[in-house]
Amino acid sequence: MNLFKLKIFLWAYIGVVSGYALHNTSGNTDCLIREFGKDKIVCVCNAEHCDNLIPDITQGKINVFTSTKKGARYSKSIYDLEDSATAEKLIVIDRTKTYQRIIGWGGAFTDSTGINVNSLPPKVGEELMRSYFAEDGSRYNLGRVPMGGTDFSTHSYSYDDGDVDEDLRNFALAPEDFQYKIPLIKRALKLSKGKMKFFTAAWTVPKWMKNNVGGYLKKEYYQTWVNYFLKFLRAYKQEGIDFWGLSTGNEPSLALVSFKKINTLAWNSELASLWIRENLGPTIRNSEFADLKLLAIDDQRLFFPGYASKVMENISTRNYIDGFAVHWYQNFLIGPKVLTETHDKFPDKFILSTEASAGYLPLTKHVDIGAWDRGESYVKDIINDLNNWVTGWVDWNLALNLEGGPTYVKNFVDSPILVNAEAEEFYKQPMYYAIGHFSKFLPEHSVRIDVSSSIENVQVVGFVTPGDSNNNHTVLVIMNKNDYSTALSVKDGTDFINFNVEARSFTTVVY
Ligand SMILES: *[C@@H]1O[C@H](CO)[C@@H](O)[C@H](O)[C@H]1NC(C)=O
Ligand SMILES: *[C@@H]1O[C@H](CO)[C@@H](O)[C@H](O)[C@H]1NC(C)=O
Ligand SMILES: *[C@@H]1O[C@H](CO)[C@@H](O)[C@H](O)[C@H]1NC(C)=O
Repeated sequence: MNLFKLKIFLWAYIGVVSGYALHNTSGNTDCLIREFGKDKIVCVCNAEHCDNLIPDITQGKINVFTSTKKGARYSKSIYDLEDSATAEKLIVIDRTKTYQRIIGWGGAFTDSTGINVNSLPPKVGEELMRSYFAEDGSRYNLGRVPMGGTDFSTHSYSYDDGDVDEDLRNFALAPEDFQYKIPLIKRALKLSKGKMKFFTAAWTVPKWMKNNVGGYLKKEYYQTWVNYFLKFLRAYKQEGIDFWGLSTGNEPSLALVSFKKINTLAWNSELASLWIRENLGPTIRNSEFADLKLLAIDDQRLFFPGYASKVMENISTRNYIDGFAVHWYQNFLIGPKVLTETHDKFPDKFILSTEASAGYLPLTKHVDIGAWDRGESYVKDIINDLNNWVTGWVDWNLALNLEGGPTYVKNFVDSPILVNAEAEEFYKQPMYYAIGHFSKFLPEHSVRIDVSSSIENVQVVGFVTPGDSNNNHTVLVIMNKNDYSTALSVKDGTDFINFNVEARSFTTVVY
């Protein structure tokens, strides 16, 4: 046992002991609390227990679900509409202003996710999948499926490694697809009752297709690379898995920062635009996969709106693209306004957030078990994105081990669910509930409405869910980053909701 493992073991041990004392002190949730330090709380799931829950919505009332740093998880209280505000501080709803429609919420079926889920006893692994995809879980409806390997694999691979193979005669899915991806994808399909939309992105091409200098695709293989996509889509179709979307490729910018040694393919805007209109677009639209959504960019905010606009300058390229995919790794440097600017330039293209994970910066803890501020960083990002036209938010690894891997390039990061294989259990971190406060309550086709907050350290976003005139709900997600509970009043037309948002909390209001 190395020092790291010993530390985790001790944490887990102290957790077990203190867990019993803390259990059931957090209001009306069923979280099996374990503390990994002061206010560093996870909910433990094992073969006997998991805190899955279908939120109970009382019709005709204001339903408030809250999770707090102190350990509440989706704890419910009920209020009535009132005819005046009792708090000075207001959140104001303006239903006359509506914005984007939600596509959904999800995570990525990386090899590491599969390895970690498979490391649990089948019953516990099933609980993990249920926690994300079932009605009583987070109700995810989006799944990102890497085409081939990523940095969250145990080695580097594509589906046609080896010698030059222009006709892709040696193309074959990898053992990873059959062990880690396809079985989990099928479980997600079942648990979500067929609601899933899967989209795929390749990290890299087979080495023989690539220039050694700069990591670009060789021109003579522009069409071969798209044929490779078709082979992948057909191979998955044969397994009964259909895709909703296809990205032009994961993070072309990574080719420029080779220090992480992650396999990647570089594109400059001009070549990307050319390849989309001459190869990718026509081939996909003339294939049996003509309805696939084509997602461009799939990279950091730095590429918006400048690089994205250059790719889209040519009208034939633009006509093939359905939306933009954006990643979160520069969001601490570049604000969300670039997304609104992108929307304003291309109002008919959706924007989807397709990758995020905490603990990726050098010198930070990769895994910080139970850290509430990591949940806050997720909620902050999701609200910022949603308030700037983003239509959904997709997390990175669905599950990692306690070290934040496996990752063969040692690119360890955190994950909303951590698997402790030895103890046959997994931990739902604050990040898990952070996404859940949106995904559980905001189904596909929810429409954003205008909501503003004038309260310091209180962020909010609002939606109307789909339904008919009787069961459309209004949903607000509110984060209070203040260390104190804050009285507020929500003004909705001539009606008011008065309540306190708890200190350091995520709150979803449904009525
Ligand atoms: C929590 O407390 C309630 C009420 O005291 C009890 O009915 C319930 O069984 C407890 N939950 C667990 C998981 O022990
Ligand atoms: C767009 O691309 C097509 C095909 O490559 C080319 O013929 C056309 O001139 C381009 N249009 C613009 C505006 O660049
Ligand atoms: C209620 O949902 C229906 C179906 O999605 C939608 O057409 C309608 O606009 C919604 N009503 C409101 C007030 O948003």
